[in-house]
Amino acid sequence: MNKIIEENKDFINSTWDKLDKKLKLVSERSKNKIPYTTRDGVHNNMADEDITWWTNGFWAGLMWLMYVGTKDEHYKSVAERAEEMLDKAFEKYDTLHHDVGFMWYISSGVNYRLFGGEKSRLRTIYAANMLASRYNPAGKFIRSWNGDHVGWVIIDSMMNIPLLYWASKEHNDNRYKYIAENHADTVLGTHIRADGSVNHIVNLNPENGEVIETFGGQGYEVGSSWSRGQSWAIYGFVLSYIHTGKREYLDAAKRVAHYFIANVSETGYVSRVDFRSPDEPVLIDTTASACAACGLIEIANSVGEYEKNLYLGAAIKILKALEEKYCDWTDKEDSILGMGTEAYNCHESGRHVPIIYGDYYFAEAIYKLKGNDMLFW
Ligand code: GLY
Repeated sequence: MNKIIEENKDFINSTWDKLDKKLKLVSERSKNKIPYTTRDGVHNNMADEDITWWTNGFWAGLMWLMYVGTKDEHYKSVAERAEEMLDKAFEKYDTLHHDVGFMWYISSGVNYRLFGGEKSRLRTIYAANMLASRYNPAGKFIRSWNGDHVGWVIIDSMMNIPLLYWASKEHNDNRYKYIAENHADTVLGTHIRADGSVNHIVNLNPENGEVIETFGGQGYEVGSSWSRGQSWAIYGFVLSYIHTGKREYLDAAKRVAHYFIANVSETGYVSRVDFRSPDEPVLIDTTASACAACGLIEIANSVGEYEKNLYLGAAIKILKALEEKYCDWTDKEDSILGMGTEAYNCHESGRHVPIIYGDYYFAEAIYKLKGNDMLFW
């Protein structure tokens, strides 16, 4: 066993047990919901509020993580219920978007990969076809936005394209993979800066893919460094490396990881919302840290023995900081990880709140450290 894993075995096992204990209880009381956040400690329900919301796959994904890690059938039934509820989103086809990867690859996609059910296969293929249909062959990118924003591409898109790598294998048809790789190549050139920081939004010329302008997006300002965007890049690029074997994707993930680790080491391994923003107000985003930890673990799994521990050690420091300071293990609060932030300039209601993908990525990181090797993305 790896030395760092060995040294942190108690932390990993006890955190997994706490996840299981709390999620058994919460999944029972939230079994008819698709949560995004909590209000007065109680999960809200996006099935009523906005069924097409981009985060609506994370609850099912979280249930599948717990199912794979425990084999408890209760988690399976809650995941399947959420997957069925999500079908209503397909009826709103015209408001769906590029985040169909986030929505279906870890819900119906995991169900299909585990059990091979036809309905789950169709849902996942339908989502992959929607994502592929957004590809611009002249610009070599998948458009992120709907409406007039034909050339807008966000770094978050890197987390949607594993759905396309899967679709290529499933259909034995490399067109999906070509789209994913062309998109990743474009984003590598347009979003990842030389110093390892990342643009959130780039407007590309739809005729040739050239950069027109960049935007700060969910970060502080143009040219700043939105921490969750860095996390999407770390995890997204290492995933593209895992699916394609293209070394430049691993190098990109490592470059952003180095920048991320350098920044969080200054703030106790919990990310500020933007690494290039004023010291006050102190705004943090635990979700960025949790997602980055997943990417760092996959980088550690992808590099040689003598560089592994840089990434694994940072991931564990992040997870320990999150667990010590921001996890709520009581039964009074439906969420686990607090202090997530939607965006630097968002409304007060989106600052320092629990967000479902915080719980999801925190659990996924611990699931990985436990030695579960099924890759969800
Ligand atoms: N994908 C949108 C976000 O990270 O908030």
